[in-house]
Amino acid sequence: MDIPVTMNKENTMFNINCLNPISKVGLDSLTADYTLTENAAEAEGILVRSAAMHDMELPGGLLAVARAGAGTNNIPLDKCAEKGIVVFNTPGANANGVKELVLAGMLLASRDVIGGIDWVKGAAGDENIAKAAEKEKKKFAGTEIEGKKLGVIGLGAVGAKVANAAVSLGMEVYGYDPYLSVAAAWSLSSQVKHVTNKEDIYAQCDFITVHVPLLEDTKNTIDEEALSRMKDGVVILNYARDLLVDEKAVLAGIRSGKVKCYVSDFPNPTTAGQPGCIVIPHLGASTEEAEDNCAKMAVQELMDYLEDRKSVV
Ligand code: MLT
Repeated sequence: MDIPVTMNKENTMFNINCLNPISKVGLDSLTADYTLTENAAEAEGILVRSAAMHDMELPGGLLAVARAGAGTNNIPLDKCAEKGIVVFNTPGANANGVKELVLAGMLLASRDVIGGIDWVKGAAGDENIAKAAEKEKKKFAGTEIEGKKLGVIGLGAVGAKVANAAVSLGMEVYGYDPYLSVAAAWSLSSQVKHVTNKEDIYAQCDFITVHVPLLEDTKNTIDEEALSRMKDGVVILNYARDLLVDEKAVLAGIRSGKVKCYVSDFPNPTTAGQPGCIVIPHLGASTEEAEDNCAKMAVQELMDYLEDRKSVV
């Protein structure tokens, strides 16, 4: 039986609540049909970045949530589905920002730039700092990334950009993604070597970067077993979510010399301040450009949905 539908477009005003600061560029694109409210309870639409929504009581009139970011692990997807609340994310909108920080992470793991900068700070005020630097600098020397092998696990918007950028920096890149989309496949450099199992990445790569969503079956993608198959001195980069990596196993790997460096964009008590770890305060998507792109996409998704939502009559 056909169910009649009507477009819900008649003079409807919608309340939007932001659970996190959302870029002005995005909010400015809300039309006159939208009011920003401080009161989540009266919202039909929610814009969120990293606020944890799992323990939040979902407003009775809530119709849609848009996350200004790719991951949706801070949103109770099952609860939303039960209540018919649609959840959007903004895949690709912050991918370039994340890619650039992954490249920075590889460079910081290759040379002790951070140790060197700390040394300069410690020697500030020393009249002879220039001479002292020439003597000390060998402590902070390292290697180049050109010619090294990078394994990219997950070739979505971020992974594909990382892979292509690494190719252009002269790295030998191996990509693994059993769910590769046609669009992502077209976007990949032909120089990215397609591997069909992670073992090949573990066995061959000097750098391994993980770009998969955090799901029940992706937790601990990098675990003790995976680590045992990696090359000695491997660098692991995690800009996706901390729970994708068994970080205790990684710390053991750092102590044994198996892992040279763990770069993570997710500070937590396990890795913060630990030797061999470069931990960044979740800055991958924290660029003006990424924040604007995510906010614009999230707002557009909310407006499209709220205005064109079909309601059964
Ligand atoms: C993402 O999921 O894309 C990022 O975590 C976004 C953010 O930094 O808020």
